[in-house]
Formats: sequence, structure tokens, C-alpha cells
Amino acid sequence: MSARISEHLDGQRLWGDLMALARFGAIDLGGVNRLALTREEIEARQALVAWAREIGVEAAVDAAANLYLRLEGREPSLPPLLTGSHIDTQPTGGKFDGAYGVVAGLAALRAIAASGRRPRRSVEVVAWMNEEGSRFAPGMMGSAVFTGKRALDEILTVRDKAGVSVREAIGPVLEKEKDLLRRPLGYPVAGFIEAHIEQGPTLEAKAKTIGIVTGIGGKRTFRVEVQGEPAHAGTSTRGERRDALVSAVAIVGALQKAIWDDADTVRFTIGMFTVTPNAPSVVPARVVFSVDLRHDDDETGRRLGDLVPVICQQARGKCDVTVVPLLYDPPLQFPASMRARVAEAAAKLGYASMELPSPAGHDARYLHYHCPTGMVFIPCKDGISHNEAESITQADAEAGARVLADVLFALADEP
Ligand code: GLV
Ligand code: MN
Ligand code: MN
Repeated sequence: MSARISEHLDGQRLWGDLMALARFGAIDLGGVNRLALTREEIEARQALVAWAREIGVEAAVDAAANLYLRLEGREPSLPPLLTGSHIDTQPTGGKFDGAYGVVAGLAALRAIAASGRRPRRSVEVVAWMNEEGSRFAPGMMGSAVFTGKRALDEILTVRDKAGVSVREAIGPVLEKEKDLLRRPLGYPVAGFIEAHIEQGPTLEAKAKTIGIVTGIGGKRTFRVEVQGEPAHAGTSTRGERRDALVSAVAIVGALQKAIWDDADTVRFTIGMFTVTPNAPSVVPARVVFSVDLRHDDDETGRRLGDLVPVICQQARGKCDVTVVPLLYDPPLQFPASMRARVAEAAAKLGYASMELPSPAGHDARYLHYHCPTGMVFIPCKDGISHNEAESITQADAEAGARVLADVLFALADEP
């Protein structure tokens, strides 16, 4: 009998699955546009279900459209071990953000199946719904609802830019998957391990194959709505105008000046900016933009976030401004016990590893409040992510999945 499940891990198949998944929503520069709950994502989910069935793994779905692929353990009534991530992407996303964790999880299930062994607890791979928050903000919706951090009824009312609600978008997904088993939200879970690409440059720079994630930085987001008045570009004078774009630009300038720090520790992004009616000869009537603010230190994150509404009011000029706080996720630390498991598995497999924090957000954030949680990072080229050029090596993908497989099996098989 083989000592380690990872000896059965099929690296070629893992890479093949990553490339196959990237075809759902493939775009010109090698990246992927597969927004949450779109046709592309539904098709990618069907592929995952088909791959799972090849090894006798059953698929299930819950009311938030989280997709579960379950390898039954010897004692199926025990809370399962969970792994996985997300398969939605940013509009110009890469092939690996999220997808890697789901495909690596499936590779781990395959390795367990190939070993002929069964752990005591069941092991489930989850594709959490709408992690990216690009179509429906804020993201990590599926994991937030699963863990009770947000209410299902509340997320169902969130609308995308076209006015489509999560409730409307989820309908076709659940309809397509009506033959799958149905799961309750928030059932007891023995542990969660998420594999993910680093999305930063540290592992590559330090020549480490495996990152043991210490925790996730704090994140605060807002939606800012600037209301002016539409007017004729030829006839309205400067003094008469209430130009929402002019006010929004002044607000953005004031925010940039107040929030960035000289030490460059703050992460501050206005990534979405919409002008209405967005017509060349109409004075802009309304601007809506996003604020994404991150910091490792709770006190700094709170202080800077509190400044956002104040600065928006100070710089609004002749327009009205409403600042809607969307979320504040404080910094968190994963338990030492889960970090030790990842470190131990990496060492046994002979991979160079290091501990590092994650400034990027992950579903593991919300699972952390539900069960013992940890994360495994693998390097990504030049730290590039949320970009079509996102790139990893097959060897690193395989290494991360081997570590994942061994950690999952060990945890799932514990007395
Ligand atoms: C996740 O994609 C994040 O924005 O951190
Ligand atoms: Mn991700
Ligand atoms: Mn992402």
C-alpha cells in the first residue's frame, strides 16, 4: 500500500483540465472572461460534474449555487473535509485564479480514488459562487452565504450593471443542475484547505514552490454615487452645470491624495467607474464608482475607510454624493495547526516552502469562521494576476496539488 496519496496524482491530467476549463470564456490574449452565473460558467460547471462522475464522485448544489463534488469517506455521516475555490473570473482574468484550486482539488480526489484507499471522512471539492465580485459586488458571495456571514435573501437582490439580479441569474444555473443532489447551506465541516496561485511575486522571487498562507489582509469596499443633472453641452454655461463627472474626478483626486501612504503599504483601487448617460453632448448626470481599500493592519484599514465618506462630501462640489459601505473584512490569521499541516506535507515531498500572508481575498476568509482553515499557494509568473497574462508552470501546479492531496487525506482520515 502506497504511503502517500500524492504518489497517485496525475499531473498531466491536472494540466489538461486547467487548459480545458480555460476554454470556457476564452478571450483573445490567452485569458478568460467567465463572469459569475453566465452561460460560460454554467458550461464550465457541467465539465467539472462530468469529470467528477468519471471517478464515481457525485455532484451537488445548494441554494446559493455553490457546486460540490463529493468523494464518499468510510464514515459518510461525519462532517466532510472541504477544498476548492472558484471558477468565475474577472472580465479580463487569467486561466488560474480560482480555477487552480478547484482543478487541484479534483486532482486530489482522483489521486485518492486511484490509491484504492478511502479516508474516514468524505472529501468535497467546492466551486464557490461569485468569488470575484466583478459582476455582482461584493464578491465571495457563495462562501459568505454558506458560512452565514451574509443572508441568502440579501444576496439574491444584488444586481449587475445591466440590472439583472442574482436571483434572476441563479435560476438558469439551478435549472440546468436540477438533476444534481441538493445541499443545505452551512452544514458542519471538519476543515477547509484552499489551493490558489499566489497572485504576487514572493514565491517566485524566493525560489519557493509552496506557500503556507499565514492569513488574509483586511479589505474595505464602498460604492460611491455622484448625482448631478443632465444638460445640453452647447447651451448650458459652466456656472449653471451640475456635472457629475467633474465632481467625481475631484473626489477621486482627493481620495488618492489622502489615502495613499509614502511607505506604499496601502492598496487603494477605483476599478469601476460608470458615467450616465455617457453621451458626448450631454453633461454627465450621474457617476457611480467603486472603492477597494486594503491594509494588513486593522486599525489603519478602519481609519482610512472612515475617511472615504468624509472626503467624498468635502470634494463633491455642486453635486450630491452618497457613499454606500459594502463590506469590511478585517485581517485574519489561519490557525497554526493548519499551517503546520501544509508545511509538513511540503517538507515530506521535498518542496521548498515558506510562510507568507495573502493580500488578495479568498473564500477561505469566510470558511475560517466556520471550520479550521488553511491555504496552499503556488508561484505565479512575475506576480501577475487579474490579467490575461497570468501564468504558472505545470510542475508548480502539480506540486501544489500533491501537497493538497496529502493534507486532505491526512485530515480526512484522522480518528
Ligand atoms: C479577489 O479576487 C480579490 O479581489 O482579492
Ligand atoms: Mn481567486
Ligand atoms: Mn481574483
